[in-house]
Order: sequence, then C-alpha cells, then structure tokens
Amino acid sequence: MNVLNVLVLELLILVVANHASRVSKSLNETCLEDGIVVGPGLLKDAYKDRCPDAEDIIFSGVENAVINDPRMAASLLRLHFHDCFGCDASVLLDDTNNFVGEKTAAPNLNSLRGFDVIDSIKSELESACPGVVSCADILAVAARDSVLMSNGPGWEVQTGRRDSLSASKAAANNNIPGPNSTAQTLVNAFQNVGLSLSDLVALSGAHTLGRARCSSFNSRLQNSKGDINLDFLQSLQQLCSVTSTNSNSNILADLDLVTPATFDNQYYVNLLSGEGLLPSDQALIGGGNDQTAEIVRSYVEDEGAFFQDFIRAMLKMGSIGVLTGNDGEIRRNCRVVN
Ligand code: HEM
Repeated sequence: MNVLNVLVLELLILVVANHASRVSKSLNETCLEDGIVVGPGLLKDAYKDRCPDAEDIIFSGVENAVINDPRMAASLLRLHFHDCFGCDASVLLDDTNNFVGEKTAAPNLNSLRGFDVIDSIKSELESACPGVVSCADILAVAARDSVLMSNGPGWEVQTGRRDSLSASKAAANNNIPGPNSTAQTLVNAFQNVGLSLSDLVALSGAHTLGRARCSSFNSRLQNSKGDINLDFLQSLQQLCSVTSTNSNSNILADLDLVTPATFDNQYYVNLLSGEGLLPSDQALIGGGNDQTAEIVRSYVEDEGAFFQDFIRAMLKMGSIGVLTGNDGEIRRNCRVVN
C-alpha cells in the first residue's frame, strides 16, 4: 500500500467515525430515515383525512402575517423553539388560578411575539375542522413556513402533537438559556433535552433572522472579551445609548446585520468577523469550545450543510416532550385549556 492509499484509507476511517459519532449522539431519536429523524408518536401527515387543508390554512396565515410584519417570520420560528423544551403549546397558555404560565418567564416577557397570529390561524382551523389540529402542531408548521418564506429550506413537518393541560413558568426559566450563557452552558442546556452540540450550533443559525433588544446584548458592549468588531461595537453603542430615563429595552438591533430577513449562512460569517450580536452567539466561536468553532467554520464554507443540519435539528427539537395518543388534548383556543 503506498502513502497515498494509506492517506485515503485514514480519511475514510475519519469520515465513517464522524458519521458514527453523529448517529450515536442522537440516541433519543426513535429512528432515522435517510438521515431524517422521526419523532416518537409523530406522523408524516396526521391531518391527511381529518383536516386535509390544515397545512394550507397555516401557510396562508403565516404568509399574511409576514406580509403585514416581515419580522413575524423570525418571531414565529422563535415561538416554536420556546415551546419546544416540551413541544406541547404550553407557551401559548395564559395564566390561570391554577398555574403561572410561561409568558412572563424571563426569556419570554416583553420579547416573545406572534401569539395573535397563532390565534387567528387557530380560529380558521376551528372553522374548517373543529377540534382536530393542535396548537403545538400549528407552532411547528408555522416555524417551517417562516423559514421557507425567508428563502430558507423547506421540510416535511411531522404532526400529531397534542396540547398540554398546564404550563410552568419555572420550567421555562430553567430550560431556556439566556443570552449571556457561555458555550458550555449552552451545550449543557441543549444536552439536557437530548440535543447535541451540533444541534446547538445548527439551531443557533436561526439567528440569521429577527431582532434583539439592547438589554439582551448590553454586556457585549463592554467589550471585556475583545471579541467584537470595533465598527460593529461603535454602531451598537450608538444605537443603545439612550440617556433619557426610559430604559433602552425597546430599541432593537438585527441579529444578522448583513441579511437580517433572509435565512442563510450569513449568521456564521458574522461570527467569524466578531459581528455576532448576542454574547451567546459569539461564544460559539470565541467561547473556547473547539468543536462549536469548527462547526461554525464548516457552515461558513458550506451553506447546504447548514441547511441539512438545521432541518435535522428542527425535527429533533420538534419532537422533544411531545404529547401523543390520549395525552393532553386538542385545545379549542390556544390560550386556554378546554
Ligand atoms: C442557543 C441558545 C439561544 C439563546 C441564548 C437565544 C437567545 C435569544 C435572545 C436573547 C433573543 C432576543 C430576544 C429579545 O431581545 O427580545 C433571541 C431572538 C431570536 N431567537 Fe434565539 N436564542 C437561542 C436559540 C434559538 C433557537 C434554537 C432558535 C430557533 C430555532 C432561536 C430563534 C430566535 C429568533 C428567530 C429570534 C428573533 C425573534 C424576533 O425577532 O422576534 N433562538 N434569541
């Protein structure tokens, strides 16, 4: 065997080992079909017979909302994520005498958007096929449609989720990581719900869309780590420097300063040049974790790989803690238990 053959063989072993480790990291998945995750108890088209127009109705609702307010695509994508440390539409429930819901949890308060859009889609669906389509599925399909409408990739959403009978502010506070998290905190938070380090990096690419309040990235403006592009720093300092008694909490910056409304790999390009908006974004490359940094670089090189991994991770995220069978219910109104 000559040197070239040995090199080729070593390369092959590396590729196979890498693939094997990726598969073994996803042990909580029910099965893999062509590399695509099928969530526990979810179906390819749960509404085919009982509400065949369900996905069209959701698509139109998202489309109208995004035409009226382009940021809504980002907001709906995030809403699914915040529901999905247990994708059961608990995030949509208003407070009751029995529980304090998730809307006032720290990551959500004055920040999560899109509740009205989900309400209006739900009421369309209730007219077309009462009591059939769950609020949790609306969130999952709307997230996919939002990506698609932002020039991102599409995928088949698995459906059949049912809606929770309760919600927990404490769980939302504990599970959803904050913007000042270190790379290791992010990895741990995702691993706690069965999402791998690669899922974390791929899903963070959702920050190619949407906006954040100054209060979410104020600590980046101190430049204590020296990992921020100086022009970018100046422009953010200017944007957020509100001297009046009002806080700067309502001033917003784009999460992706270059293509804020297009779903692409520009988010990762920004990280390379120190232009990630949230500390938790920049931590993926400057946070001392070589593995996250390596994946960021691979997505800069290959947008197709990002799209593929993003889809895979969205399917995996969309199956976390789902209620199926006789668990939960199909809510008539997404804000209240029946
Ligand atoms: C990795 C951990 C994550 C952290 C620490 C994080 C944190 C944040 C924060 C602080 C904001 C801005 C909120 C505000 O200032 O009002 C935000 C916005 C956003 N996040 Fe994340 N996020 C994470 C992961 C994700 C994931 C996994 C997704 C979706 C798959 C996502 C989608 C979004 C979107 C689209 C926006 C913009 C929303 C809008 O403009 O309304 N994020 N995120």
